[in-house]
Amino acid sequence: MSRSPASTPAPVVVRTRAELAAARAALEPATVALVPTLGALHAGHRALLDRAAELAERVVVSIFVNPLQFGPAEDFNRYPRTLDADLAMCAEAGAALVFVPSVEQMYADTGGIAVTVEPGELGRMLEGASRPGHFAGVLTVVAKLFHLFRPDVAVFGQKDAQQLVLIRRMVADLDFPVRIEELTTVREPDGLALSSRNRYLSTAERRTALALSRALWAGSAQTEQAAVLAAAAEVLAEAATADPPLQLDYLALVDPNDLSELAPDYVGEAFLAIAAKVGTTRLIDNARIKIGPGP
Ligand code: PAJ
Repeated sequence: MSRSPASTPAPVVVRTRAELAAARAALEPATVALVPTLGALHAGHRALLDRAAELAERVVVSIFVNPLQFGPAEDFNRYPRTLDADLAMCAEAGAALVFVPSVEQMYADTGGIAVTVEPGELGRMLEGASRPGHFAGVLTVVAKLFHLFRPDVAVFGQKDAQQLVLIRRMVADLDFPVRIEELTTVREPDGLALSSRNRYLSTAERRTALALSRALWAGSAQTEQAAVLAAAAEVLAEAATADPPLQLDYLALVDPNDLSELAPDYVGEAFLAIAAKVGTTRLIDNARIKIGPGP
């Protein structure tokens, strides 16, 4: 049920919890779909907004660069902040409400955060191994946003596949009354997955970065575990000698539900995940791959 931009008023933009509570109450009794973001919105985010508009009567958005999910050596300070363009995209997509809190508003007005949502073992694998504390930061802010917005449904991208697994587990394990919807990754025509961090890449770095999606396609052409990994690894190894080189963090083929290692006789969909650095920019990408003899 998409609404035409011309007939849709600009979204209400709120910055405090009190304003959000009032604006949320004003949406009653409509159904509400939430799209949480860090801002620097691109066509991937836009696809989530459009999906949200199909799922509920009102679309609500959060734009918040969440310090809790960035490590001390990560890019919190230089993370792109493009609020005017972000609000224009939200308006175009027909969003009803956008929450743009300050860090103080989210974390300091309760005297600083003492209690966080710990993801356990799932949060220490893959991305979690390279980014300690990252997923506790993500789950904590997503839990807060779920409480503040009380959405019927929330929409997330498969681009951040481990994040999606963890949010689904949090919702199931802690009984959050919200439905989680996921959307496939939106890509540039040449295959590069859209990411707010792509704007850090120089032209040469961007060329090297294409190895991530190329490795996923190479892996997808195989159906046997070792062959999938070998095909992807070959593309990544070649990119490691490119100028500038790709520095691989991990390549993994895991169970899409719990990120565990696949049994040798595994048959079904698996999740091929890559993280790598090009220059100083860390990139992730993934694909779902059918393993085993298939029809
Ligand atoms: P952010 O990186 O801004 O992403 C917001 C949402 O957009 C996530 O659900 C992400 O998976 C999705 N997304 C990003 N790139 C995409 C692409 N190319 N195609 C489709 N969807 C894409 O993920 C976060 O923010 C944060 O961790 C957040 C959940 C907001 C918590 O702070």
